[in-house]
Amino acid sequence: MEIGKVCLVTFSPTHTSYRIGEAIVRGLKGESASCVDLTLHGVGQVSFSEDTVVVITVPVYGGHVAPLALKRMEMLESAGAPAVIAVVYGNRAYEHALQELDAFVSARGFKIIAGGTFIGEHSYSSSAYPIAQGRPDDADLQYAETFGEKIRTKIAMASDKDKLYGVDVRRILRPRQPFFPLLRFLRKVMKLRKQGRLMPRVPEVDINKCTHCGYCARHCPNGAIAEGDECHTLSERCIRCCACVKGCPQHARTFDTPFAPLLSECFPQQKENRIIL
Ligand SMILES: Cc1cc2nc3c(=O)[nH]c(=O)nc-3n(C[C@H](O)[C@H](O)[C@H](O)COP(=O)(O)O)c2cc1C
Ligand code: SF4
Ligand code: SF4
Repeated sequence: MEIGKVCLVTFSPTHTSYRIGEAIVRGLKGESASCVDLTLHGVGQVSFSEDTVVVITVPVYGGHVAPLALKRMEMLESAGAPAVIAVVYGNRAYEHALQELDAFVSARGFKIIAGGTFIGEHSYSSSAYPIAQGRPDDADLQYAETFGEKIRTKIAMASDKDKLYGVDVRRILRPRQPFFPLLRFLRKVMKLRKQGRLMPRVPEVDINKCTHCGYCARHCPNGAIAEGDECHTLSERCIRCCACVKGCPQHARTFDTPFAPLLSECFPQQKENRIIL
């Protein structure tokens, strides 16, 4: 089978899922490539024909697919388009996310032909508490591109769409996780909970640094910041994605979560990307 159209569907507040998706699409080398970026808003009903390979990349939040990504993907549908699904996580764990994405996308009529779990710099990573800092790096992007090339070969080898076999993503190899750092992390999380030290509801803003450039308001995925009133964040809309923190040109926004030092300390060993096809 020839690869015709390729479409990237992504939700990616801090751009790591987007960059992985882009690299996979590069490797697929379709005749034409398009992108449905759901980061800032949803789109109406989108139907994919069988001749489009759909690459879907989303971040992991709390071991699940980011809820807003799922909500914005509710309008996708197909009668059999081949789909490549990938979850991007911040070097702790992706837990249920890949299976969840598989079930969600399959229920909308896609055939899952490949899956992947990739590492992206953690949304809470900072220079003080680096967590998978700089990932995806060049090697990760090359790995994702090669994954795309392998999928291209898989499609080329299939004589027709019925011979293009689906995959069971539950069989993907989990990354190595040393036991003691994980135990230390779980103990420290319990201690934080006992102390009542919770996650802040929204990022803090240093009003002396903010120049009201409006970047954060324009790039907030859920409309939690209004242009002109950037020092105020609507807690009921904030999904704590840190797009505003990482993107603020004045470094005026910070998300001072007690989990950042824990994640930085307990997960220093960089995990590997994994694929199945
Ligand atoms: C609210 C929230 C929860 C997260 N939960 C996890 C998690 O359970 N495991 C993990 O390894 N990374 C977790 N992360 C980190 C993101 O999965 C990671 O930074 C990802 O690369 C972000 O994708 P994006 O750049 O496409 O926004 C979380 C990030 C946020 C904002
Ligand atoms: S991006 Fe930073 S400087 Fe610009 S409005 Fe937002 S907080 Fe202010
Ligand atoms: S205000 Fe909240 S939801 Fe909006 S970009 Fe910042 S962290 Fe993300």
